[in-house]
Amino acid sequence: MSARILDGREIARDIRADTALRVAELTAKAGIVPHLVVILVGGNPASRVYVENKIRACAEVGIRSTLVTLDPGIAAQDLIAEIERLNRSPDVHGILVQLPLPPHHDIQAVLRAISVHKDVDGFHLYNVGGLVVGRTIFSPCTPYGVMRMLDHAGIPVEGRNVTIVGASNIVGKPMALMMMARDATVSVCHAKTRDLAQYTILADILIVAAGVPRLIGAQMVRTGAVVIDVGINRDPQGRLQGDVDFDAVRERASYITPVPGGVGPMTVTMLLVNTVSAAERIAEGGRALMLPEQPDGGPGRLTGRPGADAA
Ligand code: GUN
Repeated sequence: MSARILDGREIARDIRADTALRVAELTAKAGIVPHLVVILVGGNPASRVYVENKIRACAEVGIRSTLVTLDPGIAAQDLIAEIERLNRSPDVHGILVQLPLPPHHDIQAVLRAISVHKDVDGFHLYNVGGLVVGRTIFSPCTPYGVMRMLDHAGIPVEGRNVTIVGASNIVGKPMALMMMARDATVSVCHAKTRDLAQYTILADILIVAAGVPRLIGAQMVRTGAVVIDVGINRDPQGRLQGDVDFDAVRERASYITPVPGGVGPMTVTMLLVNTVSAAERIAEGGRALMLPEQPDGGPGRLTGRPGADAA
């Protein structure tokens, strides 16, 4: 068997075309151009590349974007003050703080400072918690992109064994919650899991986000499994490489994502989708949903469609 390739670039192209139409419609009907502000603290070269990709993708679909570059030594309260200024700005619809941050910042406090209305990364505590009870406003972009890829290919999730390798806050954990919301049977493995293969071999759908090059070999994969590789690593020659031994595993799997060109383009695309949804929600205005007050004193009132982006 040689697996069918889940081509993230092609699926992303379709979703971006639809997103561009939504932008055009919003601008024509409500005079609103969706606006994403990306905050980059310091000059981490990898973060800079990611941020530039996001800015370029915004331009492709007609989303306005602003890059705010802040000194790596910025005081924690000044970063939070900048976020609060953007929260109040009516022409900003999405706010993204590129991670990682310099170590003197409390990442969770920074993410909680972002208005839940504008949290297009889906990293605010409310959105993370919302995944548990099916009330999230913005789903985190990478797991949301994985879901959209599976749906696009018509791969069913309900009742399937899903094994997730990697338990990070931004991929593994939300991925598990989104799969549970779709009635999959989920196992989450991590660096301390004993006998990883015992879990991966059970998977109908294997999602790998461990950050370990070629962690998954063919012998760890069930024949006919769907294999989603979220890993982005560089080999000694600087070439991109996933967490899955692609050439070997593709002979076992039914579907597989390549690296590059798999999950990566979907992640950026879902950021665009979330940003347009944020702007649409603000344009819809009238329909209000009450949220509990944010513990940090942020706005407790959210306008728009509850859970519209829950994958
Ligand atoms: N750093 C690595 N991935 C991400 C992401 O998806 N969002 C943000 N804000 N920072 C990241």
